[in-house]
Amino acid sequence: MPTNVKTDVQGALNAVPHRVTNPELIPAERYYDEEFFRLEQERFWPHVWQMACRLEEIPQIGDYVEYTILDKSVIVVRTRDGVKAFHNACRHRGVRLVNGPGTCGKQGFVCPFHGWRWNSEGENTFVFGREIFSEELLDRAEIDLAPCRVELWGGCAFINFDDNAAPLLDCLGPVAQRLNARHIDKLKMDWWYATVLPTNWKLAMEAFMEGYHVMQTHPQLHHLAPGSAYGPDAEGKMPTPGGTSREVINTSVDFMARLSSGMAGMVHETEVAVLEKLRDMDAPEDPMEAMMAFYARAQAEITKDGLERGAPMFDIPKVNQEHPFADVEFMFPHYFLLPSFAAMSSYRIRPLTAETCLFEIWSLVLRPEGEDYDTPTSPIVLPYDSDQFPEIPRQDYSNLPRQQLGLHASNFKHMRLSRDQEGMISNYQRLIDGYLAGLDRETLEKAQPIVNSGYNAPIHDIGF
Ligand code: FES
Ligand SMILES: [Fe+2]
Repeated sequence: MPTNVKTDVQGALNAVPHRVTNPELIPAERYYDEEFFRLEQERFWPHVWQMACRLEEIPQIGDYVEYTILDKSVIVVRTRDGVKAFHNACRHRGVRLVNGPGTCGKQGFVCPFHGWRWNSEGENTFVFGREIFSEELLDRAEIDLAPCRVELWGGCAFINFDDNAAPLLDCLGPVAQRLNARHIDKLKMDWWYATVLPTNWKLAMEAFMEGYHVMQTHPQLHHLAPGSAYGPDAEGKMPTPGGTSREVINTSVDFMARLSSGMAGMVHETEVAVLEKLRDMDAPEDPMEAMMAFYARAQAEITKDGLERGAPMFDIPKVNQEHPFADVEFMFPHYFLLPSFAAMSSYRIRPLTAETCLFEIWSLVLRPEGEDYDTPTSPIVLPYDSDQFPEIPRQDYSNLPRQQLGLHASNFKHMRLSRDQEGMISNYQRLIDGYLAGLDRETLEKAQPIVNSGYNAPIHDIGF
């Protein structure tokens, strides 16, 4: 922690139960303590920008989705004047107006209890027997649907319950530019899955914040990965035996194909089809140079193929050079994008209870304009151990319930993090403490872009 922290800030932080005092140690109670969970609900979730829906879910005027977070529910609706959001509660006696996604046509939103109505702009259009109410109770401002803040970015609508929060883009920071360069707003859903995990929402997020778990959790990837950042395994073996330049290229194609079958959007099947054609490309004799030549060629060929197919492709080699990206890009507090070439995987994780969460995964792709396809309107919900999940998330999910249980061991006080590679976990956890401590808005919003620095980040000074 920086030493120049003001004492009032320090005092407020000290009052947070189970707070992170050593940035390399994360107290176990943060993942199951009911009081901590209640504090998150009260002081954290009401103040942060939350990815509420992909805009593809509401393509036509009148289309809406319901976004829920803990006990709150918001309607996000496409209107003639753009996308709007409203608190999902009848202004008469509070009934939730919508339950899931839908389309409000001419009749608008109709309360199922006494039949009050609103148009898609949230304006009240009907009250049965107005004269039975005192006039001031039916004041327009009182009975129109209560608006919720909403901003659009990256093909998604984000909501915030806090009218004083800084604009979304200020909170996101440079990650927004990195992803804009990759045409993030033009990505379309290929598929959408969801599952309920018996783990705290933060634990689920943290399984995707570092590459240190790949060796043991995803051995099929580790064996194909070029080299190892962590040295030999317990038997003293390195993962990939070197080989000739041709073997190195073949292994690289195999690696990308395994990533694709294991996690779809990370490398899309259309991209693998391009890579397969590079197996016999001309390559330098030196294996290392051959691998670099392969990836350079792969980026150029995937760009060319996308453009030829009419996809809203970007120049992958140029963008990679000008806007280096992280393999997992995090948008605090609960949204992820995983770029490789042009396609991406995406995650959103929401708390349900202290020890359960809802985990959604998308495979996203830059589709040729005018391509005929079915946009999913809701996720396919599977048990977390379903073999319908692609290999990679299934492997990640398999550890999580066991980890949640292990955290309860009576001598398990805290997680110990790699200072250099698991810092992302520490960074966002300390930012949560900032919210729980009620630190001033400017301090919290300055920390967010730092926290959004991505996969394998080291522990950063987040300003408090
Ligand atoms: S509660 Fe909605 S109309 Fe009465
Ligand atoms: Fe993983």
